[in-house]
Amino acid sequence: MKPRIYITRKLPEQIIDGLCKNYDVRMWNQEDIPVPREVLEEEMKEVEGLLCLLTEQIDESLIDKAANLKIIANMAVGHNNIDVISATKRGIMVTNTPGVLTETTADLTFGLLLATARRLMEAEDYLKSGKWETWSPMQLTGQDVYGATMGIIGLGRIGEALAKRAKGFDMNLVYFNRSRKYEQEKELGIEYQPLEKLLQISDFVCVMLPLTPETAYMIGKEQLELMKESAVLINTARGGIIDEKALYKALKNREIWAAGLDVFEEEPIPVDHPLLTLPNVVTLPHIGSASIATRLKMATLAVQNLMEGLAGDTPRNLVVVNKSK
Ligand code: NAP
Ligand code: GLV
Repeated sequence: MKPRIYITRKLPEQIIDGLCKNYDVRMWNQEDIPVPREVLEEEMKEVEGLLCLLTEQIDESLIDKAANLKIIANMAVGHNNIDVISATKRGIMVTNTPGVLTETTADLTFGLLLATARRLMEAEDYLKSGKWETWSPMQLTGQDVYGATMGIIGLGRIGEALAKRAKGFDMNLVYFNRSRKYEQEKELGIEYQPLEKLLQISDFVCVMLPLTPETAYMIGKEQLELMKESAVLINTARGGIIDEKALYKALKNREIWAAGLDVFEEEPIPVDHPLLTLPNVVTLPHIGSASIATRLKMATLAVQNLMEGLAGDTPRNLVVVNKSK
């Protein structure tokens, strides 16, 4: 009997063709609806390999249902949706898809920064709703990006790719990271600063961390109070790194100037969420890595990891407990 694999979302046929030769592949057949928890629980009982998305919470109780499971391959670089410690304790490998999405996510992050700083969404709405009657001196004025200071919190793969883009805009670069990045400091002219100082001096604060117990709510009321009134906060990492209630208050009271958010504490963010009522927030539905080419590369890499793990090899992107890479 072929080993059973479950894929939690419909993937293009060319991606899973190779798998079907050697494995009994079952797949949730909808593209835009996540697999219901009870279906996943049932499937877990039989599977040796699971390919999942960041929309599935692979927690301890789900892992416990999977007596034959050898590997969980996440189609994302972030793996905060998986209880890696519980999986590892049971000898189950966890993999992610780093690298292939770095440039695409950095592009989107810089795009979101520009859209927020220069009020692009508001401006389009102004035009389309018929409010544009004349050109006027201070109409829809925003913040300059060129020459401003960008503070990057988390100078990993995407943080570094973002810094490279910022250099092209003649921005001054500072960063905070748990480990110093001496090579990048030299190559990019980026300066290390403690978190508090970074928040005080940056015109743009970009969060590029993984969500872990250490980074959860790393940006809360206290940290927002340190930021400039003219500052823009950009988060394309994970919603749980920022305390959204504190962010709402800071934006509403104009303690900071604006925020650009691709990620939220709850996804999808409820449409009646207070943050969505503010004019100085630009929101996107978690599309950081959403280019056609990159999503296909992520799916391909997740499949490669799955096959390597099931063949008894160490998969190329094995997530090691207590390391966020
Ligand atoms: P990465 O290369 O692992 O970079 C993460 C960086 O954060 C590393 O430099 C790491 O430091 C640092 N870090 C980790 N914990 C920290 C802490 N407690 N304090 C300070 N610094 C800490 O990851 P990446 O590929 O750049 O991705 C970053 C995150 O972006 C992912 O985890 C994911 O959640 C998010 N993401 C979102 C999208 C989207 O669609 N919006 C797309 C891709 C990724 P060390 O070097 O010391 O480990
Ligand atoms: C997307 O958010 C990812 O972590 O790949």
